[in-house]
Amino acid sequence: MDHLLVRAARGERTERPPVWLMRQAGRHIPEYREIREDYSFLEAIKTPEVAEEITLLPWEYYEPDGLVMFSDILTVLEPLGFSYHIESGVGPVVENPVSGPDDVDRSHGDVARELDYVGELLVRLNNRVGDETAIIGFAGGPFTLASYAVAGGPSRTNMPLRKLRAQHPDAFRTLLSAFADVVKDYLAFQIGNGADVVQLFDTYAGTLTPEDYREFVLPLHREILSDLNAPTIVFVRRMNGRLDLLADSGADAVALDWTVDMAEAREQLGEMPVQGNLDPSYLFGEPEFVREKTREVIEAAGPEGHILNLGHGVNKDTPVESVRAFVETAKSIEREV
Ligand code: CP3
Repeated sequence: MDHLLVRAARGERTERPPVWLMRQAGRHIPEYREIREDYSFLEAIKTPEVAEEITLLPWEYYEPDGLVMFSDILTVLEPLGFSYHIESGVGPVVENPVSGPDDVDRSHGDVARELDYVGELLVRLNNRVGDETAIIGFAGGPFTLASYAVAGGPSRTNMPLRKLRAQHPDAFRTLLSAFADVVKDYLAFQIGNGADVVQLFDTYAGTLTPEDYREFVLPLHREILSDLNAPTIVFVRRMNGRLDLLADSGADAVALDWTVDMAEAREQLGEMPVQGNLDPSYLFGEPEFVREKTREVIEAAGPEGHILNLGHGVNKDTPVESVRAFVETAKSIEREV
């Protein structure tokens, strides 16, 4: 029997909504912070036994219906010739960012070789818990990855990359397409190594105008997500009011941020499966409040093709008790199928 998460991603009616959380394996878990005292972020994601141990922490705490591999969207920077690290208090730093419009035409190295540690992690996870829960792979989308490659680090408005769009549209297109190529290979590689579901995080692409999104991003999402051998989920923040652009992405399911009204989204998207979308800040409320708000999301989404999740990643200071209340609310549902 297929995992509950896979069935919901395909649009099936499920006896209860499957549940997982974006960023579930990170800093809100005390043991994660302990492990990170011994390993840098890059050491942790590049050492399969350490990444495995971290991926399994939320399993020990909550038994969610999916375990998202402990890794980062930035791994594909390396096959494209960029070096990066994560600096505490700053975030990701790209050491050799794009130097100008002539520095965008890149072809990528062998993903299976350069990102072998991700393949090994997926194999290990499958051996450990593959019968009990879905293994979730992921990659960044081309706009979000290019944002780091151009700005050299986090950029709240993505102005450096949007400037490139305004000044050198051909270079902008070429850079995005280089990322799309590597990401497509990378997701196929993850599925080949046992990912049951994959999520494309083009988190920042919503900062583009609708016209630019349609022209530059949408065709790449379609290219990346076509012909993959597992269900796919697409996540872009700030798409409220233009969910049609996510529905057209070629993904099987659309992840909604918390600014989207779930019932309206369902009406608009018809049978398209959805994921989401509890406001992550609600997990700072009392457990009873978490349960009530979670039940409201489940109710609004209905019984078919819904994966319960937050509207974005779990905040690093979130109490474990709240996450437990969130997961248990999904698990307490019993529906006729
Ligand atoms: O638990 C999981 O969901 C799996 C792993 C995961 C991480 N990053 C681990 C991580 C996933 C799916 C990501 C995706 C990611 N990474 C995105 C897209 C999704 C989103 O949430 O917007 C983006 C834009 C990144 C880039 C990135 N890497 C950021 C913004 C950060 C956080 C920087 C900071 O200091 O807050 C990272 C580092 C990172 N990736 C951490 C984790 C757990 C924190 C590392 C640490 O300080 O311990």
